Amino acid sequence: MPALKEIFRKDYQAPDFWVTDVSLKFVLSPNATLVTTELKLSKNTETTSRTLVLNGTEHSQLLSLRINDTAVALDDIQYVEHDIHLKDLQDDELAVTLSNQLDPANNSALEGLYLSNKIFCSDCEPEGFRNITYYPDRPDIMAKYTVIIIADKATCPILLSNGNLVEAKDLDNGLHQAVWHDPFPKPSYLFALVAGDLGYIEDKHIRPDGSPVQLRIYAAHNEVDKCHYALGALKRAMKWDEDRFDLVCDVDQYNIVAIHDFNGGAMENKGLNIFNAKYVLANSEIATDADFETIESIIGHEYFHNWTGNRVTCRDWFQLSLQEGLTVFRDQEFTSDLRHRGLKRIDDVKMLRAYQFPEDAGRLKHPIRPESYVEMRNFYTTTVYEKGAEVVRLYQTLLGEEGFKKGLTHYLNKFDGTAATCDDFLISMAEANHEDLSGFEHWYSQAGTPRVQVAKEITENGIKLTFKQLLCSEGSNLQPQWIPIRFALIGSEDKIIYEDTFILKSWEESITLPCKETNVALSLFRDFSAPVIVDYPYTEEELMKIAFFETDYFARWEAAQRYISELIASEQTWEEKQAKFIAPFNNLLQECRQEPSFYALFFTLPDPISIQSTTAEKDLAKIWEQRGNLIQYAAKTYEAQWLEIYQSQMIGNASARDLKNSVLNYLATLPNHEVTVAKQYEAATNMTDRMAALRASVLNNHSTAKTLLTNFLEKYKAYPSVVDKWFALQVSSPYITLEVLNHLRHHGEFNSHNPNRVRSLLGALGQNKVALYQQPQLFYPWLLDNIMMIDKINPQVAARLATPFSQLDFLKQSDQDAIRNLVKAQLANQLSTNLAEQLSKSL
Ligand code: SER
Ligand code: ZN
Repeated sequence: MPALKEIFRKDYQAPDFWVTDVSLKFVLSPNATLVTTELKLSKNTETTSRTLVLNGTEHSQLLSLRINDTAVALDDIQYVEHDIHLKDLQDDELAVTLSNQLDPANNSALEGLYLSNKIFCSDCEPEGFRNITYYPDRPDIMAKYTVIIIADKATCPILLSNGNLVEAKDLDNGLHQAVWHDPFPKPSYLFALVAGDLGYIEDKHIRPDGSPVQLRIYAAHNEVDKCHYALGALKRAMKWDEDRFDLVCDVDQYNIVAIHDFNGGAMENKGLNIFNAKYVLANSEIATDADFETIESIIGHEYFHNWTGNRVTCRDWFQLSLQEGLTVFRDQEFTSDLRHRGLKRIDDVKMLRAYQFPEDAGRLKHPIRPESYVEMRNFYTTTVYEKGAEVVRLYQTLLGEEGFKKGLTHYLNKFDGTAATCDDFLISMAEANHEDLSGFEHWYSQAGTPRVQVAKEITENGIKLTFKQLLCSEGSNLQPQWIPIRFALIGSEDKIIYEDTFILKSWEESITLPCKETNVALSLFRDFSAPVIVDYPYTEEELMKIAFFETDYFARWEAAQRYISELIASEQTWEEKQAKFIAPFNNLLQECRQEPSFYALFFTLPDPISIQSTTAEKDLAKIWEQRGNLIQYAAKTYEAQWLEIYQSQMIGNASARDLKNSVLNYLATLPNHEVTVAKQYEAATNMTDRMAALRASVLNNHSTAKTLLTNFLEKYKAYPSVVDKWFALQVSSPYITLEVLNHLRHHGEFNSHNPNRVRSLLGALGQNKVALYQQPQLFYPWLLDNIMMIDKINPQVAARLATPFSQLDFLKQSDQDAIRNLVKAQLANQLSTNLAEQLSKSL
């Protein structure tokens, strides 16, 4: 195992030298790219030492180094690991020039400069820039960049970097050159370069002052026709940020490039966003309705970073949530405003509970502002992003939309062009609103999902509610977190008779509501007003009331989910369960056409893992079986009504497809409807319907599944994101076997160098907890072996795939021990620091 050097938040020190200007010259060649770097530096007057640290890695071969006019002999250079330390530099202003050579074609880790389908492309966040050149690679150093790109004109007609194109000309020997200048000072992680044979589509956005921004999306020539949706989304994002936050695009050219081999989802490089192609390319033939929504939100996300991330960036990587939590919150609001606020909230909570809650309960748990890391890339987590967004949402819940906007505006004005901290954000919100927000601080420093216990008591003076918070963070000095609780009471006439928001600021508090009715249903955490687990002994009657009569979408959905989970976990007889499960459908099947998308969610039962983790029932096999049987029973009982709804939604928009396909999931459990599923597959005119049918067929183990899968692959071989779906679907089946896994692993379409394809196999298995938990001895070792194989190629991707090993606590002790022993054995082998950090923390 490599030595793991931990870096601590408390050790932050400002640099001795700032960089004011960077000039980079690239002479591109797949195996030998030459980089010349010129830096202008000035002394940070606030530090006394005079050391310049230029971070580097083993991937770049240093050829020369000069300080001012003096060449430094390569043998005289002092390194600490791969970083160059230049000590006792006496000048307050100095110039450093260096040159080095790179091998982009062999950069399979995809950090720094690499080749993807013959396109040169960069990915630098957080610390990839040091793979490109030696540089003080830290986000608090913001400099102006000029970039000269020289490449073969025939193979690389397009040369892109950040900012504005200031010169383009042909050179001798078939080469050409482009010069880009970015007037905005930026940290190195926002640097970008793309060069290759690309096509593009373009449009413009007109700013409030009437000036245009030129928008372009670049992709492979045969893919540019699939970029139109993303381009429209970009325009919507620009307009929305103007309308909602008065934030206007500050660059005149805004470029997006779609790249097939990409570690993350997308990257907000200033003026030159680089995207995983999967989040750009779409038309209804290859993308589902859900894909379209995701693309729109990610296009928005990267654009919103232009203010929250780029104009104001983070001082050090511990503060990552400052920009990611905030920007996720902003993209969630974007989608909510453009689409359906209630449904978006449900989707986001589902995602938070499925990924972030387990992370916060597992061995890789960390606060949204971590205290230490070994590999920063391991901290691009759902905690930093999604829980971070929930914490940002708390401010809005407390201050209101207007107060939140005031705070954000103040924060951006105050810190524009600088690198800030999470504390700066909190203080800005407090200053702008003249509020004490000190209780928010603990959300940044304490890990774990808080639990809130609620008790309801009928007293002479009204209804008394007692709230108690329990934290599961480590440490002896835990402080109560401020928890906004939106709640309502539904009275005997099925109407909301009281609603309010209570802010729980201490460990335990009570309030008494002036309410004389006694038979009330208490609806808690409406709109999921805080990222907590709620302990309250709902009665069945209360849940039914909330599910039917609440006005808050989240609360309705939540009550229904809880009702079903509790029912499955209860000790009642099977006949009682069946009867109680199907009773509400009488009404639901009547109403559902009024709000098809909402009822589609309503009809979708909580997944087995969620039932297991929220109820007393821990037997996953039993949950799986009962859940399936209930769906089948409801399908059989109301078969005619389901069919009628199904037929009625045949022609329609995305909401109709939502409802139709949720109904299909019921019908698909009945043997006589295998043919309905197969017919839908054949007749589908869009990916949403085709995929829904294929999924229903595979997940219900239909006899047609094999044929449909073969047909699907034949049809869509040319579309990588669709082939990813084909892999992921098979791997997410509860019936997955080692035989199928091995078949897929050695399939001609599997590609261990493409992160999307790797995730569609190994990532999907890691998420198939039903399979993992039922046959741990089978699947965990297979997963681990394959992660080790990926680690040799791409450590960042491998480390992320290893998270299931930090969440073993649900397993039998003997299984846990056996798996941890395997992990321990692997730690003795050669592996990357990325993977070593994740695995060793999992033990
Ligand atoms: N900064 C990227 C994003 O979240 C990920 O590296 O958009
Ligand atoms: Zn982001």
